[in-house]
Amino acid sequence: MKKFLIIFFIFLVFAIVFMSCNKKPQEIRIGGIFPITGAAATFGKSSQEGMQIAVDEFNQKGGIPISGNKMLINPVYDDTAGQPEQAANVCRKQIDQNGVKAIVGAVMSKNSLAIAPICQSKGIVMISSASTNPEVTLKGDHIFRVCFIDPFQGTVMARYVFNELDFTKAAVLYDNGNDYNKGLAHFFEEEFKRLGGEIVASEAFTDEEKTVDFKAQLTKIKAAEPEFLYLPNYYAADALIMKQARELAMEIPAGGGDGWDSPKLTEIGGDAVEGCVFSNHFSKENPSPQVQNFVTKYREQYGKDPDALASLAYDAAYVLLSAIEKSGSTAGADIRDSLKNMNMEGATGKISFDENRNPIKSAVILQIKDGQQKYLTTVNP
Ligand code: PHE
Repeated sequence: MKKFLIIFFIFLVFAIVFMSCNKKPQEIRIGGIFPITGAAATFGKSSQEGMQIAVDEFNQKGGIPISGNKMLINPVYDDTAGQPEQAANVCRKQIDQNGVKAIVGAVMSKNSLAIAPICQSKGIVMISSASTNPEVTLKGDHIFRVCFIDPFQGTVMARYVFNELDFTKAAVLYDNGNDYNKGLAHFFEEEFKRLGGEIVASEAFTDEEKTVDFKAQLTKIKAAEPEFLYLPNYYAADALIMKQARELAMEIPAGGGDGWDSPKLTEIGGDAVEGCVFSNHFSKENPSPQVQNFVTKYREQYGKDPDALASLAYDAAYVLLSAIEKSGSTAGADIRDSLKNMNMEGATGKISFDENRNPIKSAVILQIKDGQQKYLTTVNP
């Protein structure tokens, strides 16, 4: 009997040791909601890559301590395909089924506008890396972003065209079914007119993913004789528009906003986008140590240079994980409060939040030269 008890006891000790070794490391799940397929697919790919670098950095130092337990970060990535309904579905799935504690995303403003009310109502913090439409963070006190907003971005380009390029007549061509495009067109036009310039044509189309022929609108625009063409859309449509503009012998300078930031812009647009200018969040030529550290890390990991999307998603994830670390909690309200007091320097500049949970950041203006993005200037708010 005694022998039996000893064997049983030894067995018990082994079982306990075995079970605790096998115990899954505790983890914090964080969502990443990006357009990995669809007309803005390079945005999604870059964003996921950027976010992963921040996740790896926290995991390499052993994770984040929550009530004495080091928790590893487990990212859950999902694709919006650029569609608001799909964005809403994956958002609900991440919160209800995957148990994510916070979400980085979305990228396209129309998708962020679809998921923000869901996050807010479920008490989950959402940090958009790249959605610039002002309405996004107004959906509630759990909704943040790490990028500047379109009233600023539109103003920056209007002033650049009017003051630096010395043009007084501009035309705009935009997708009126997309919150980002519509908003940015509006903010550019307002500021350009306020400065004393004239918007000689403002033309629209619906659904840049499906539209391939912009010649009717371009013909009208050409007849109005603008000196500059502002295209506040995403890269695929804008590259196509530029090709068709050049085919119609419109040789005027053109440009747009952050939606132009993709390697596909020059792949699709070729010579037609040469010389074009656009506002953006990030230039890899910025000598600041935060930027150069990130550029080096990204190159080592992926063998290519980061774009604004990668850098913004890195910053969004980094700020979020720092907020969790600082508060020592994964409760939505605690993460929110911790973010409110955040103040750090990221790969895309200083990040601290105003009362609408937007950061105050500079923009850069880039120009396409020999098929590459060249840094022109920085504009402070
Ligand atoms: N600002 C865009 C939007 O709100 C997304 C974007 C950000 C695209 C940065 C390119 C670079 O829809």
